[in-house]
This record gives sequence, C-alpha cells and structure tokens, in this order.
Amino acid sequence: MDNIYITRREHFNAAHKLWQDKWSDEKNEAVFGRCSNKNWHGHNYDLFVTVKGIPQEETGFVIDLKLLSQIIKEKVIDHLDHRNLNLDVPFMKDIMASTENVAIKIWQQIDGPIREAGGELVKIKLQETENNYVEYFGGREPF
Ligand code: NI
Repeated sequence: MDNIYITRREHFNAAHKLWQDKWSDEKNEAVFGRCSNKNWHGHNYDLFVTVKGIPQEETGFVIDLKLLSQIIKEKVIDHLDHRNLNLDVPFMKDIMASTENVAIKIWQQIDGPIREAGGELVKIKLQETENNYVEYFGGREPF
C-alpha cells in the first residue's frame, strides 16, 4: 500500500529582527527591509507539519492527530509562541531568525518525537506572511 500524507496546522506569533552585525545600518536595511527594524516586530506564523505513513488497521490513522498536535505544542509552540525568536528561544540561539532557519529548527525539534510516535516527518511548511512561506523536506542541515 502506498503512503498517505497527513498535515496538522498549528499557529504561533513571535517577534524577531533580521540583522547582520558585521554590516552597516544601510546594508541591513537594504537587505532585510522592514524585518531589520531595530526595535523588533512580530509575525503571525502558520505552521503545517506533514507526516506520512500507512493507515493502521485498528484506527485507520497514520498517526493520532491529538498526539501529533501535542508533540508540536510541547516541542515548538510552547517555546516560540509570544516569544522573541532572537532572544528567548534556546534552539534559535546565534541563528538568523529567518523563516527558512526557523523551519529547519522546527524540523530538528520534532523529527525524533514523531518517529517515536510511529510517523515519518516529511515536510515543514512555515508561513510568515500572506505571501511568503517556506517548505523544508529535511536532508542536509546548515547547523
Ligand atoms: Ni520580520
């Protein structure tokens, strides 16, 4: 039987700033735009976590969505929601708080626990604004 893919959506909001210390103020503003604002700003993030597997015979589930939601809440949402991504989040320490990097770090937080729960994580989609989102499928990690 082929795999089937199931996705859980979660939400958090958080503050951040994109800033490269070794650059001038002008270059930071040119590259990062409004996300370089020195006094921070927030985004409402939508997080989509996709898991694949075969439906279990007794439940028909790939993974219990209540359990998946609980893993995401404990490992990700509780650490990011209403926080400053640059200052408050140990797993984001010394990493540029771009949508790309947040998505990679989210993957690292939940990949193991999802596997322990019998699922296989295949995609993180992180939507930062109405028009911008990133998708991460695992693989080579920059940190
Ligand atoms: Ni921003």
